[in-house]
Parts: sequence; structure tokens; C-alpha cells
Amino acid sequence: MKCKTWITRLVMATLIISGGLFLSSCEKYSWVKQEPPQELPVSFSANILPFCQGCHSSWSADRAYDKLYANTDTVAPASSRVFSIHSSITAFGSQMLQVDTLLLSAPDVIELWASQGAKKN
Ligand code: HEC
Repeated sequence: MKCKTWITRLVMATLIISGGLFLSSCEKYSWVKQEPPQELPVSFSANILPFCQGCHSSWSADRAYDKLYANTDTVAPASSRVFSIHSSITAFGSQMLQVDTLLLSAPDVIELWASQGAKKN
């Protein structure tokens, strides 16, 4: 019957198109490492301090800030000494921290904060 073939074709076409749309919507969930947005404001007390205190639990906010600031390079954040100090500690480099709605690696967050002036914010 002609009508049946027509309906089958229509159904098939709809399935193929919606399948394609579904697959292309997966693009934004790819696991390619995202560069942290430079303008994302990072707060020392909200984003970084709890991370430091996770291991250095006896440090006050002032002490943690002084320790971090002394080992931060605001001109070349990636070369900050805080990274070489912890280079053998996997949990330092692999931990993810939430900043606003983003999940970034702890070193990325510290670098971002350093590039924003390493403020006691
Ligand atoms: C996963 C655990 C961990 C986290 C998180 C961590 N540290 Fe450390 N840190 C260590 C360990 C372990 C040492 C080595 C201790 C030692 O041998 O003196 C260390 C040593 C240091 C030292 C050198 C020793 C000293 O007391 O001056 C500094 C400075 C330091 N950490 C700062 C920080 C800061 C700032 C943060 C937050 C950005 C931080 N750490 C987060 C584990 C951690």
C-alpha cells in the first residue's frame, strides 16, 4: 500500500534527524580540557582556603594566605613555587574545586587567582 510506505519513510526520516540532533547535542559534554575563563573571579577565602586547610588544617586564614602569597608568582602563575612544593602530592594537582558554576583543577584555580593579583579576597 502506498500510504503505508509514505508513513514508514516519514517515520524513518524523523528518527534519523532527531537521532542526529541528539548526537550533536553531546558535543558540549566532550572531555576536552577546557581553558579556565580568565575573567572568572576567584576568591581566596571561598575557593582556595578550604582546599589548603583540607591538608594544612591547623593554618588560620592569615597564615594560609601568607604561605600561599610567599609561594605565588603573579607574573608567571604557572611557575609558582606552591606547585613545585606539592609536585609529589597527587591529591594537590588532581583535586577539582568549584568556582561559580565551574569545576576546575586546584592548580588552575590558583593560577587564575595569581593572574588576578593574588588578592586576599
Ligand atoms: C593534598 C594535601 C595538600 C594540600 C591540599 C595543600 N598542601 Fe601544602 N603541603 C602538603 C604536604 C604533604 C606538604 C609537605 C609537608 C612538609 O614536608 O613540610 C606541604 C607543604 C607546604 C608548604 C611548605 C612547608 C611550609 O609549611 O611552609 C607550603 C608553603 C604549603 N604546603 C602551602 C600550601 C597552600 C598555600 C595550600 C593551598 C593552596 C596547600 N599547601 C595545599 C599537602 C598539601
